[in-house]
Amino acid sequence: MIDIHSHILPGLDDGAQDLSQSIEMALQAVGDGIRRLVATPHHANGRYDNKASSVIAAVDRLNGELQERRIPLEVLYGQEVRVYSDLLGDFADNRLLTINRSGYLLLELPSDRIPSSLNDLIHELKVMGIVPIIAHPERNREIASDPGKLQGLIERGALSQLTSHSVNGGFGRKIQELCLNMCRRNLVHFIASDAHNVDHRPFHLRSAYEYIGHKLGQRFIEYYLDNSERVTDNRPIDVWQPIAGKKHWFPLWK
Ligand SMILES: [Fe+2]
Repeated sequence: MIDIHSHILPGLDDGAQDLSQSIEMALQAVGDGIRRLVATPHHANGRYDNKASSVIAAVDRLNGELQERRIPLEVLYGQEVRVYSDLLGDFADNRLLTINRSGYLLLELPSDRIPSSLNDLIHELKVMGIVPIIAHPERNREIASDPGKLQGLIERGALSQLTSHSVNGGFGRKIQELCLNMCRRNLVHFIASDAHNVDHRPFHLRSAYEYIGHKLGQRFIEYYLDNSERVTDNRPIDVWQPIAGKKHWFPLWK
């Protein structure tokens, strides 16, 4: 498996705090069946700034440590970039990293709302040949209360990634149900771990795929697995047509 979202790099953000924790996470990832993993430290989220050059150095160092220990995991370049005002300027100045230097950028929204600038940002990125992947939309309050808003973003050219912990029920039953609803409506293109550590925010990517397969069928698993491979290989993705949600026209007593 390929995991396109993780916080495995030591000491850069709220993920692994030192090399020993990174190695623990790498071993857990390998045990889960992951062979390629995109390191996506937070950038510009108000707490952490990790510009491209420091991420590249940290990934190269960690790959060296993994090879020395004969741990069969390849770490790829990436960033989880928060929507912020200088994003496009910083991108032009090579301060940002797409996933494995592809045409796909992992984009984080604030947790409580959809920024008013997002439609324009998606458009500008598309003009630059970059497809934004919205990280964990199921954890954005505005989207969670109206997944139709995610549909609007996808129709403008964004893609979206659910977090395995949400799919597995780790953030509660409601978010788990919301994840399935989003998958059924073709509003999801990737499942990834967003792993931060081995205890509270582990990988558990295999179990998320198994749950999706059990609830929705094998073709969803194949689609998500294939898409993660396509992104890291910088190949285009077949975007499934979103399905509009049910409008509640009917009286509630029915
Ligand atoms: Fe993350």
